[in-house]
Amino acid sequence: MARLEGKVVLVTGAAQGLGNGVARRLAEEGARLVLTDIKEDAGLQAAEDLRSRFIRQDVASESDWQRIIADIARTEGSLHVLVNNAGIEGDPAAAKDPEHAPIEDWNQVFKVNGGGVFLACKHSIPLLARSGGGSIINFSSVASLVPTPFLTAYGAAKAAVEHLSRSVALYCARAGYRIRCNSIHPGQVQTPMFDALFDRLSAQAGLSRAAFVQGFLANIPLGSFQEPRDIANAVLFLASDESRYITGQALVVDGGFTLAN
Ligand SMILES: NC(=O)c1ccc[n+]([C@@H]2O[C@H](COP(=O)([O-])OP(=O)(O)OC[C@H]3O[C@@H](n4cnc5c(N)ncnc54)[C@H](O)[C@@H]3O)[C@@H](O)[C@H]2O)c1
Repeated sequence: MARLEGKVVLVTGAAQGLGNGVARRLAEEGARLVLTDIKEDAGLQAAEDLRSRFIRQDVASESDWQRIIADIARTEGSLHVLVNNAGIEGDPAAAKDPEHAPIEDWNQVFKVNGGGVFLACKHSIPLLARSGGGSIINFSSVASLVPTPFLTAYGAAKAAVEHLSRSVALYCARAGYRIRCNSIHPGQVQTPMFDALFDRLSAQAGLSRAAFVQGFLANIPLGSFQEPRDIANAVLFLASDESRYITGQALVVDGGFTLAN
């Protein structure tokens, strides 16, 4: 079964972590992939592994978005699916709580996690529309749904992504573009980003990493962290025509975390 046969798919932040897992899953279903990331060596390696194309990109740069979309229009000729996965937690050394977080870190998190997704939608809509329509999948988080005093800017920016996705969905539907837009909300998946966060939180709690993880798992009703493939399968559904009547929705993949927290 090739559920994405004939579709050109752009995945941002595809060098590692969830973006890489999503790219692998979509490749299995016949997608013609373009991968981007700021990490050039790992991105090139991912593209070689998946027999796809890599372009270096900073998602927070508007000129990079103009360059990437023009490149895809020229090389692939169309774009059907955009996966806005790239994201950051901010400077690991900076305070994250609302009393002490520096404005510079807040601005950087919003520039990448909020502005990056806005620019992606803005610049890809014309090409998606010219390609006959498609699907935009924006990476939000459970951090948009539960308060995050330990990650203030990150949670607020992910809430912005959820709202932006609904605005893009309504705008595109009313314009008759046949472009759907949804947000995806992972819970906790063991990636380099997750590792950095859990190292910090366990140190702050004065616990070993193993003890902290054990305690945290009690907050997840299904009892374990998600695997990248759990998120990738949900992205696949939103990317495929199986979800052709789903737009402006928030798809939460969290093992029940938001039910219990
Ligand atoms: N891991 C989790 O538990 C989790 C939970 C909820 C949401 N998310 C979201 O999922 C997405 C992927 O997270 P992850 O855990 O794989 O993170 P990660 O840090 O492991 O990977 C993120 C990738 O994005 C790239 N990137 C960062 N800034 C970029 C920029 N300005 N331009 C282009 N690429 C850039 C990085 O180089 C990296 O390859 C993020 O948006 C994150 O907020 C992750």
